[in-house]
Amino acid sequence: MAMTGVLRPGHAQVRVLDLEESIHFYRNVLGLVETGRDEQGRVYFKCWDERDHNSYIIREADTAGIDFFGFKVLDKATLEQLDAALQAYGLETTRIPAGDLLETGERVRFELPSGHLIELYAEKTAVGNGMETLNPPPWDSQRENGIAPVRLDHCLLYGPNIAEVKKIFMEVLGFYLVERVIADDESELGIWLSCSHKVHDIAFVEHPEPGKLHHCSFLLDTWEQVLRAGDIMSMNKVDVDIGPTRHGVTRGCTIYAWDPSGNRFETFMGGYQPYPDYEPLTWTFDNFDQGLDYPQRKLHESFLTVVT
Ligand SMILES: [Fe+2]
Repeated sequence: MAMTGVLRPGHAQVRVLDLEESIHFYRNVLGLVETGRDEQGRVYFKCWDERDHNSYIIREADTAGIDFFGFKVLDKATLEQLDAALQAYGLETTRIPAGDLLETGERVRFELPSGHLIELYAEKTAVGNGMETLNPPPWDSQRENGIAPVRLDHCLLYGPNIAEVKKIFMEVLGFYLVERVIADDESELGIWLSCSHKVHDIAFVEHPEPGKLHHCSFLLDTWEQVLRAGDIMSMNKVDVDIGPTRHGVTRGCTIYAWDPSGNRFETFMGGYQPYPDYEPLTWTFDNFDQGLDYPQRKLHESFLTVVT
């Protein structure tokens, strides 16, 4: 499919309670690559196979949670077009100057009716994945460090007004609906949205508290690597939430766990590859035990209630 407009998830900035403990966790247990630190005390990471300078940024704060989630767009002209479209839709946007985030160009930020800050940007310095672009090997030793995910893949956010959120992503930003969970009255309780060929680039669940993080998700190549991630979590006494198992929604094979600050993260592989013309798949809430955990058919209470 043609890739224009919004390309992909680009970065998440997440709050942690103890910076040093979190650096150790993200560098050595999750196995991200540290790429920089800035004057604000933020620490920047990327996954080993990502090519841009950063995708996951942490800062120390009194509460855990997410500051913002950013998407990379095709180019600067697209950034201008989308900013104008957001404003025409009735949303207020703000410009954050280039360089505020290390190696990142100007960002357009807006707040969703769910209380989340979303950013668009066109430029982030390409630093490569550490391997040659001419006749490259398939992987190098970075893939052996901790869990070592391939990329930041998507996030799931909890907040109110997801019907409004869906309109913004679909009518302004060019996303399409891949899957949804509906209540008895047919209202949508959860939506999985894609701007690409992926089964989701961002997802939302209706929730009374605004601005909440359910999880940031990191992609692995194989089920064996998901099981290896589970081994590494146990070796390091990581608090595991759910899995290893398979979601019915998206068909992704997953483990949910919490970082040392209580921010949930996911390591997963798989899922199918939808196209924008596919009819969205619908799950009824009374069957969401299978949607969440297909083999066990278990509606884990933590999935519905624990967010940061
Ligand atoms: Fe996920």
